[in-house]
Order: sequence, then C-alpha cells, then structure tokens
Amino acid sequence: MSKRVLVTAALPYANGAVHLGHMLEFIQTDVYVRARKQAGDDCVFMWADDAHGTPIETRARREGITPEALVARAYDEHRRDFDEFSIGYDIFHTTHSEENRRHAEAIFTAMEARGDVVSRDVEQLYCPHDQMFLPDRFVKGTCPKCESPDQYGDNCEKCGSTYAPTELHEPRCVVCGTAPVLRSSEHLFVPLSRHEEFLRQWLRDRAEGGHTVLQDSVRNYVMRWVDDGLRDWDISRDAPYFGFAIPGHPGKFFYVWFDAPIGYIAATDKWCADRHAGPGQCFDAYWKTTPDDTEIVHVIGKDIVYFHCLFWPAMLHAAGYTIPSRVHVHGWLTINGEKMSKSRGTFVLARTYLDHLPAEYLRYYFAAKLGGNQEDIDLSFDDFVARINADLVNKAANLASRSVKFITSRLGGTVAALPEDAAPLVARAQERLAQASGLYREFESSKAVRLAMEVAEDFNLYLTEGAPWKLAATDPGRAHAICSAGVYATQVVAAMLKPVLPGWAAAVERFLRLPTPLSFESGQPLPHGHAIGEYETLAERIKPAAIEAILEASKETMGNEANAAAAAAAAEGPAEAAAVPDYEVPALEPTVAFDRFTPIDLRVARVLACETVEGSKKLLRFTLDLGPLGQRTVFSGIARSFSEPAALVGKHVMVVANLAPRKMPFGTSEGMVLVAGDEPSLTLPLLDPQTSRPGERIT
Ligand code: MSP
Ligand code: ZN
Repeated sequence: MSKRVLVTAALPYANGAVHLGHMLEFIQTDVYVRARKQAGDDCVFMWADDAHGTPIETRARREGITPEALVARAYDEHRRDFDEFSIGYDIFHTTHSEENRRHAEAIFTAMEARGDVVSRDVEQLYCPHDQMFLPDRFVKGTCPKCESPDQYGDNCEKCGSTYAPTELHEPRCVVCGTAPVLRSSEHLFVPLSRHEEFLRQWLRDRAEGGHTVLQDSVRNYVMRWVDDGLRDWDISRDAPYFGFAIPGHPGKFFYVWFDAPIGYIAATDKWCADRHAGPGQCFDAYWKTTPDDTEIVHVIGKDIVYFHCLFWPAMLHAAGYTIPSRVHVHGWLTINGEKMSKSRGTFVLARTYLDHLPAEYLRYYFAAKLGGNQEDIDLSFDDFVARINADLVNKAANLASRSVKFITSRLGGTVAALPEDAAPLVARAQERLAQASGLYREFESSKAVRLAMEVAEDFNLYLTEGAPWKLAATDPGRAHAICSAGVYATQVVAAMLKPVLPGWAAAVERFLRLPTPLSFESGQPLPHGHAIGEYETLAERIKPAAIEAILEASKETMGNEANAAAAAAAAEGPAEAAAVPDYEVPALEPTVAFDRFTPIDLRVARVLACETVEGSKKLLRFTLDLGPLGQRTVFSGIARSFSEPAALVGKHVMVVANLAPRKMPFGTSEGMVLVAGDEPSLTLPLLDPQTSRPGERIT
C-alpha cells in the first residue's frame, strides 16, 4: 500500500482578497497534489483560511462589523477565487473553528504539562484610546538610530536598523494616532532552546529520495538561526484579540501564529469527521503517527520559514503529533520585474485576472516557470502573452485541432493504426511521459512542462512534414495514419499537463472519448477503429486588450482590498520572521573602529560618460560629475558586468572620492566606483536620485 501523503499550502489571511503572489503558491501546491494523485499516491490537500490576529480585529473595527463577519466574507471570496483557479483542495476550512480550538488547547496543554511553557512580564506599548497592546507594526514613530520619521515599530526602512517599538521616538498608534503608553503584562513563552537537539536532527535527517526536509539553501539558513541561539517564543496576546482564549490563563489569547498552522490539523480533523471515518482510522493515521507512515508536506513562501521550520516542528514534537517530512519553500512573485505596485497597476488581485483571462493560462505560466528552488518568479505580461500563444496555442492546441478536425471531418471519425515511421517519436513520447511524474514530485514542474512541449513539437513537425491534408485524395490511408499520430500526441501531451491543466485534460478526455481518464500510464495509442468526437477549443490567442484591461482594473483596486492584502503579510510577524534570501554573500569583514571609517570619503556622482577602453577587456572609463566638486575620470575593472556602458549615463553611482590618484596605461584614475555583487552580475549600488545630489557625502 502506498504511504499516506498530506499536503498543505500556507493559510491565506482572511482579512482581504488574494493576489497573484498568493496564487503562485496555491497553484504550485495544487499542481504538486494533482500530480501525486495522478501517480496513484494516497494524497490529500488540507487547507483553510487564517482568521485570527490583530489586523483582522482592527480592520473589522474600522468597517464597523464583527471579526466573524469579516472573516466569513473573506472565506466566501477566497473559495470562489480558488475554485475558479481549479485549486483542488480536499477541504478548505478556517482556523476560527471548533476543531482548531480543540487542537490548539490540546497542544498547549500538552506543552505546558511537560514544561514547555514559561511566563514572565513584558513591557509593551499600549494605546489608551483603543485600549489594546500594539503589535510592532501597529506603532509608528521616529527611528531611534537615524531620526527618520514615520517608521514602523520593528525596523527602519530608511537606515535598516532593527529595534523594539519601545525604542521609537515619538511613537503613535497606527490605528488612531494616539501616543501609546508603556504597560506591563504577563506573557507566556515557549523556550525553544529545549528543542535544539530535536530541531538539528530534523533539519539534518534525510527522508526518502535522499533529500532533507528543506532545500539545501533554506536548511543552511535555518541552521544558522539555530547556531545563533534559539530565543523564547512569545505565544500569548492580551485582550482584545480575535483568537482563542488560552485555557487556565484568563485574559490571554493565543498569538495568531500559534494556532495558524494548527489549522492544518483542524482541517484534517474536520475532513475526517465529514467522511464519517471511525476513530483512529483517519485523523490519527495522519497526525498521530510518524513520517514513516504519513508524509506531511508544507508549501510556503520565504517570509514564513521561521514559523514553519522552528516553531512548528518543535510544537508538533512536544505535543506528540506527526512531524513534517518536507517544507518546500518557493520564491517571490514579481510583476514586470518589480514588486507588485498599485500605481503601476501591477497589484493584480486573483479576481481581476479571472475577470479577463482563463485561469489555466496563469496556471500554465506559473508551472512553466516554477522549479524546485526558491528563485523569484517574474510575471512579465509580454512574456506571458508570448508564452501562452507559442506553447498552448501554437504548439499544443494546434496539434490537437489539426489532427482531430481532419479525422472527424474527412476521415470517418475513427483513429487508425499509427504509421511505422512514427515509432521513434512514439518511443520518445513514452520516455518523456514516464519522467513527468518524478519531476512533479520534486516540484520541478517547469521541466515536466518542457517535456510535454517537446512531445508537441516533435509531432507538430511530423504532421507538417507529412501534410496529410495534401494526401487525403491520393493516399487516404497514409493521411489517416499521420493524423492518428497527432491524436496520439494530443493524448500524451494532455496526460503530461493534466496536473497543470485539468480543464484542458478533461476536454481531451471528452472529445477523444477516452475509455479511462488520462494518467501517467496513458502512453499507449488508442485502438484502431476507436471513434472520437468533435474537437473542443483548447486555447485561443491572448488579445493585448485583455492585458490592458487587467492593468487598468488593477489601478482601480487601489482601495481597501489591495491595501489590506499588501499589509496583511507583514502585519503581525515579528522582525525575526525575515525572508530567507535565495543567494549567498561573503561573510562580514571584522568590525572597524568608527575613526577608521570616517577618513574614507564617499560621494555621490552622476555618470556623464561611460565607455569601453581600447586595448582593455576589463576596464570602463567613467567621466563623473561630483557637483560642486567638479568632474573626475575614473577607471573601473567592471566591463564584463556592464555590456552596455552607455546605458549607465545619467545614473547616480557611489565613489570613493579621496582615493590617491592612480596612473594607468590609459590615463589617471581619480577615484573608485563602488559596485555590489559578484562578477559577472555586478550592480552599481545606485542611490535614489530623488533624495541625493551629486557631491553629497554618503555617511
Ligand atoms: N496567514 C499566513 C500563513 C499561515 S500558515 C499557517 C500568511 N498569509 S498570507 O496570506 O500573507 O500569505 C500566504 C502565502 O502566500 C505565504 O506563503 C506567502 O509567502 C505567500 N505569498 C504572499 N505574497 C507572495 C508573493 N508576492 N509571491 C509569492 N508568494 C507570496 O502568511
Ligand atoms: Zn490607537
């Protein structure tokens, strides 16, 4: 019997609509689940809304409704969006449920009984007007380090320093603007260090297939957190708080991140109960066993690694629940190369996309770009249109439409035996089909999709060269055989893409009148004489107007939804939940005394000219404007990284302005241009042209 598999995606916050960044994760998870089901695995997708926390509490207050009403509204919207995107969850529950309360209480009680909970007093900012303690992101004030105004309570966006909200100068409540006061209150903490050995082991263990629970780079990063020392985790919040009361601690509520992942468990419990499974047969088999029995796979974004890779396994371990086998971390979605932005119209809600284009085009695009790593994924709309038109329309749909239509209209509507000269193509298609399932299982959907397209390319070429439409009169037998090869390829391509394009696959199953659903076993041609039905349109070219309409409509959603969705992710996470970067940088140099830094005079310069140097492959010659300090010539050995030096003209760069001039064969270099990164992908650490002027000192 195959092992049970339980898969989750992160639980979306129930305080607003979901956007395409969320959909990247949910589509990736869904493709993974569908592929495992298609491979015959006993796999379920347990999912829910994340309904608790301060942002939901305060947004409901602002709208003058109860938090329950707010999360109920979000729940309906989310389900509608997810269903239209064909996210095939087995259950979509909510963390504001009796099941979740029961498990949160049980886990807490078990942890408390074994000494995993301690209490101590904490001084925190409290808003006397709103009568509540303020989470870090609900306080704004002047940065204690650089004195920039209007900074959040956890870190400064201007100077990057992190601090406690109590250190802010002139703090204000974000909700009402009142100056908060310091107030002390008792909090409950989980001393994570008690679980250090367990966590190290969990991070190191190799599961089936030889991989660890985390991708290598994520594991290294999390290990570093462990090496740096595990801090106590504050799991309680004071009333008013939309969440569950902590048993035995009146007036205290579970911090949203305590009961949020328990939502995975609660969803399973509800799903099992709804199926009337007997006790121990269902729920316990998932959550009260070992990874040898049941594989638990979480898919998450890199901003919530801390919660899923330290707190969560420690909680499960302490309370005796099944430990996750795998936490898959994906990259961040950018749109047209940048963070989603409301003013550019690139803050695209899932609903806005669905209003203008078919869900499966986005599913295809994401699947075609996603791999097993945490690299960021860019949705560039030009590339999106080109990709869908080239792959889905011109390759896959064209293959199906040509061969099926010709058979139904001219060749009697049944398939013939495949021509002998197609045998090598058929063998290659079968090989590719055989690889697909394993690729999906490693989250390598881009490779699986690539293989499907190669099958379509092979057979399209075969059809074009065979030109059955010319042969129909002279050699109808040969024409029939060639078109039947096209039908065969349609079947294999649809089988390979079925986890990504379930609607497409269903249409192919219908019009080819397949006796059994498409699967990774669909590599055999249909029997000679099998009758097929009329072709149904699988994909059509994307019209530029559809993209314009999406961008336009996204500018209009600038109001509440986009704001709330944007605020939601960071709203209640502590600073320690910082994103895991997907690149490495060299270690810090030893600390230098302040008086050894000040002699280095850094200035802003505008690039007046930048050109290659004859006789040197490495050097670029910069002519720089330092404003009141005049012009300089600087040679820099960075030519390999900037293939278009002229493009740098007009940009602002940082220079070391008091470096001793250096004579070179091509002239004298009067300074040094600062760069960042590794060759050949160096960047110039550009300064914001709005806030800096040539000649200004960088301090
Ligand atoms: N509620 C928490 C998760 C609790 S899980 C027990 C949360 N919710 S969220 O709605 O803010 O985000 C849901 C998921 O979407 C997270 O995994 C997050 O990383 C992901 N993404 C949000 N914006 C994203 C992009 N722009 N790109 C890719 N993923 C993104 O966090
Ligand atoms: Zn206030």
